[in-house]
This record gives sequence, C-alpha cells and structure tokens, in this order.
Amino acid sequence: MPTAQPFDYDTVYARKVRVGIPRTPRVVVPYDFAVGHPDASTFPSQALGDATARMLLREGPELALYPGDMSHDAARHLISRKLKAHEGIDIPPSRIMITNGSTQGLLMVAEAFINAGDTVIIEEFCYPGTLRAFGYCEPRYATVPTDDEGIIVDELVRVLDRLAAQGLTPKFLYTIANCQNPTGSVMSLPRRQALMRLAEERRLLIIEDDAYGDLIYDGEPVTSLYALSQTDNVVRLGTFSKIVAAGVRLGWIIAPEPVLAKMAVSKIDGGTSAFTSRAVAEYLKEHLDARMDTLLGVYRAKRDAMLEALEEHLAGVAAWSRPRGGLFIWVRLPNGIDTTKLLEAAHAAGVTYLPGTNFSPEGKGANCLRLSFAYLSPEKIREGIGVLARVVKAVQPLHAPLPA
Ligand SMILES: Cc1ncc(COP(=O)(O)O)c(C=O)c1O
Repeated sequence: MPTAQPFDYDTVYARKVRVGIPRTPRVVVPYDFAVGHPDASTFPSQALGDATARMLLREGPELALYPGDMSHDAARHLISRKLKAHEGIDIPPSRIMITNGSTQGLLMVAEAFINAGDTVIIEEFCYPGTLRAFGYCEPRYATVPTDDEGIIVDELVRVLDRLAAQGLTPKFLYTIANCQNPTGSVMSLPRRQALMRLAEERRLLIIEDDAYGDLIYDGEPVTSLYALSQTDNVVRLGTFSKIVAAGVRLGWIIAPEPVLAKMAVSKIDGGTSAFTSRAVAEYLKEHLDARMDTLLGVYRAKRDAMLEALEEHLAGVAAWSRPRGGLFIWVRLPNGIDTTKLLEAAHAAGVTYLPGTNFSPEGKGANCLRLSFAYLSPEKIREGIGVLARVVKAVQPLHAPLPA
C-alpha cells in the first residue's frame, strides 16, 4: 500500500526556481508606501471601455488568430508615432516588440545576454524587479555609484578598469536614466553624453529602462541614451503600466531587428495579448495627450504633498531626494537605523515602505527606504508620513544624527 504522505515538491524544483528571488509579500496596512501601483483614481474606465468596444466591433474576429512574437501592429505603430511626437526620433515599428509588461522585456534581456556567472553592471541601487528578472539567469553584479545627475562616469571607468584587470568583460550596463528607481535622479545630458562616449569607446551594450520618461513634472525631458547612440548599442525598454495602468501588462522593447529576433527565441508565450494591445492602442490614439496631462497633474500634487509632509515631520532627522519625476522618494535615515528591522514597528503603526537593502545585491542601504507617492491620495500621504515620522523618531534618539 502506498503511504498517504503528500508529494514533496522540494525534491523536483529546477535550479532556476531555487536561485530566483521570491517577491516580497505585500503587507496590508492603511498607509502603503511600498507598492509601485500607479494611481487608481484616474483609471479611464469609460474611455477605455468605449475604445475596446469600437476595436472589437471593427476587428473582433481577428482576435481568433495568434498575435505572433512582435504582437499586433496597432500598439507598435502607436509607440513609433509617440516617440516621433514626444522625442522627435524615428523608430520604425519593425524595431519595436510588444511585451507582457516591461518586466517580460527585462527577462528577455536576461535570457538573451546573461549566462550564469556573467558580469552585469547596474546602478548602486537598482529596481528589485530587475534584480529578480536578471537573477533568474544568475549574473554577478558590479555596481556603479550615482549622484543627483545619475551614474558617475569616472566611477564607471574605474569599474570597467577593475573588471578588465580581472579579465572580465561585462555583458552590459543596465540603467534607469529617467527618474531612477529608487533614487529618483534624472541623468543629466552631459552625463548621458559622457556615458555614451565611454560605452562606444569600450564597446559596451547599454540597456536603457525607460519606465518613467513620460512622468517628468518639472523641466524638460533629457534626450534618451537610445537617441544619443551612434553605434546602435542601446536596447531600450518602455511600459504602458505608468501611462495607462499596470494591470494591462503591456510594455515594449526597442532594438535592432536581428536582436529582437534573437530575443524572440525566449518569448514562447504565443505573443503578447492582441486584445489588450489593440484596445490600449485604440484608446491612446485619441486620449494620450489628455491622459498625460491628467497624470502629470495628479502625480505632481502627490509628490508635492509627500515632500511637504517630509519637511513638516522629518526635517533634521532624515534626508530625502526631491525627484523631478517618477513615483518614488528615496529617504536616508541616520546611520545605525536599520529600515528592515524598523518595518515591524512601522507595520504595527499602520505604515509600510521598501527597505533600502531590497535595492542592493550587495546589501547596501540599510539606513535607507523608498516611499511611493503614486498610490495613496495626498491626504493619506500626509497622514501616513506623520505616522512614519513617529515610528522613526521613536528610535532616532538612540542613534547619531544625520551626517551633514
Ligand atoms: C524601472 C522599472 N522598470 C520596469 C518596471 C516594470 O514595469 P511593467 O509593469 O511594465 O512590467 C518598473 C515598475 O515599477 C520599474 O520601476
């Protein structure tokens, strides 16, 4: 008689599942500054519904077909037109592949370029979703310090020289040049130019993750690395998550056609939903500019509410970024405060955030945390920062003040 012992799945998991980084479980509290969810109050239900109905009545039966690796033309043409209108660059739809969110693009970058043990250069603090996607292919990371203007190019020279001395050639440099997640910095034009000069000189591939290029609240957008490249050494990723909604799960990769063809080798999902990509393209055809105006107004007000609340409650206790775009503020507490340990008290008080070490494969940033201002209303943001400040101040007297 076989025993009724439950099957032990641990005996059969593949290596990739074992080395992968699990998602941090979400903790439900009234003041959630941890989630990357975009604003939900402005979701365009009516306009997206109307566009979807129009699209279905016109071309519904075509949805009977598989969309193919590049996905449906409508979204690719829309992005091509958007890049022309907003950035003045000509990118033909043949260079644009639609993906299941830019996260799938990150995974495809990993699958296309990283063998286990390869070196990849990232910014000192890096979006955890990227670490999860890349981690699946087991790279080694070299990190490069950043400041308010993004990657410090002289430091990158040092990293490249150090790797060369060890006989290592990095596979690529991954950067979030616009509104870096988590630090919020926008890489300045001189830095971008210097970075591209160096990358072209050293034959370095750049992966430009442009999740936030549309969300700049003050000042002018800066020319993309893709547009600055003279040698086609930039693969650029974008997403509809921030300009339409994260739930539509649509993003894109821009790369030379032969590179897209190689990436398609790992895109074995039957193609990204033609239903959502056609519906979103139909909606944005008419509403893109109005949608952007709405979002920029809403997010600017939320960012300002958070900055004001930080000033009111944490001035002199913490230091923080003043991002001119994106969805996040990066906060530095006095050395010695461990924001992972502090989470327990924060949760008990009803507030949460992402601890700094989540953004560093080297475990740096123990005294830092990232706050998202995207999801909660300005009123909730003000209240929540008050709660967070009380939690911080309860431990702060035990620690040294902030370094100047
Ligand atoms: C820098 C960066 N890249 C990619 C993503 C993932 O976006 P998507 O929803 O398109 O997968 C995010 C989401 O927060 C992000 O911050």
